Amino acid sequence: MHPPDAKVAVITGASQGIGAGLVDAFRALGHRVVATSRSIDPSDEADVLTVRGDIADPATADRVCAAATERFGRIDTLVNNAGLFIGKPFTEYSQEDYEAIVGVNLTGFFRITQLAVGQMLRQGGGHVVQITTSLADHPRSTEPSVLASLTKGGLQAASRSLAVEFAAHGIRSNAVALGIISTPMHEGDDEADLALRHPLRRMGEVSDVVEAVTYLETASFVTGVTLPVDGGRSAGD
Ligand SMILES: NC(=O)c1ccc[n+]([C@@H]2O[C@H](COP(=O)([O-])OP(=O)(O)OC[C@H]3O[C@@H](n4cnc5c(N)ncnc54)[C@H](OP(=O)(O)O)[C@@H]3O)[C@@H](O)[C@H]2O)c1
Repeated sequence: MHPPDAKVAVITGASQGIGAGLVDAFRALGHRVVATSRSIDPSDEADVLTVRGDIADPATADRVCAAATERFGRIDTLVNNAGLFIGKPFTEYSQEDYEAIVGVNLTGFFRITQLAVGQMLRQGGGHVVQITTSLADHPRSTEPSVLASLTKGGLQAASRSLAVEFAAHGIRSNAVALGIISTPMHEGDDEADLALRHPLRRMGEVSDVVEAVTYLETASFVTGVTLPVDGGRSAGD
C-alpha cells in the first residue's frame, strides 16, 4: 500500500488497452489511481479506486473527481485517455458518429479536466495528459478520419492552452500523439498491414505509450508539448 500522501492519478478509459496499461504504470510510479470507464471492474487493491460511468456525461466527471478527493484527498495527474475512433470518408459520417466521437473525445475532456485542474490549483500543481493521434496534425489520404482530427486536434490545441494558462500555478499539460497501437481497438484488423503504415514497420505497443506518458509525468520542465509516439508517421512516409 502506498503512503497516505502518495500522488493520485485519474485515468479515463481505464478498463482495457492503453488505459489499463497506464493504471499499472502509475501504480509502479507510486501513485494511487482512480480508474474510470463504463464497464471497469472493481479493484481489490486498496490504492486503486474504480468508478463506472460514461465519460460523455458530465455527471461521470463529477462522480470521479468527488470519489478521488473523498477517498484519496487529492488529484495530481489526469490522463484523458478515453477515446473513440471511427475512420470513414468524411461524407459518410452519420450524425450518430459525430455525436459519439464528440461526446467521448471532447465532452469527455471538458468537465473532468475543469474539476481536476480546480483541485490541482488548490494543491499548487499537477499534470494533465491528453492521448491523441498523429493523424490530427498529419492526415493521410489512405486513412480518412476528419472527426479524429477535429476532436484530437482540438485536444492538442486545448492542451497547449492549458499549459500556458496554468504554468504559473505549477500545472503542466502535455499530449502524446499516437500511431497505430496494438490494443483491443484493433481486434480483427490486419496487423501486418497496420505495421507497414509506420516507417518503423511495426505497430506500437501499449508499453510504448506508457513509456512516453511516464516520461512526461516525470519531466518537470516539459509542458505544452505534443509528443509523437507514432513509429515515425509524423516525420514522413
Ligand atoms: N489504439 C490506437 O491505435 C490508437 C491510436 C491513436 C489514438 N488512440 C487513442 O488512445 C486512447 C486509448 O485507446 P485504446 O486503443 O486503448 O482504445 P480501446 O482499447 O478501444 O479502449 C478504449 C477505452 O475507452 C473507454 N471508453 C470508450 N467509450 C467510453 C465512454 N463513452 N465513456 C467512458 N469510457 C469509454 C473504454 O472502456 P469502456 O468500454 O468500459 O467504457 C476503454 O477502456 C483513445 O483516446 C484513442 O483515441 C489509440
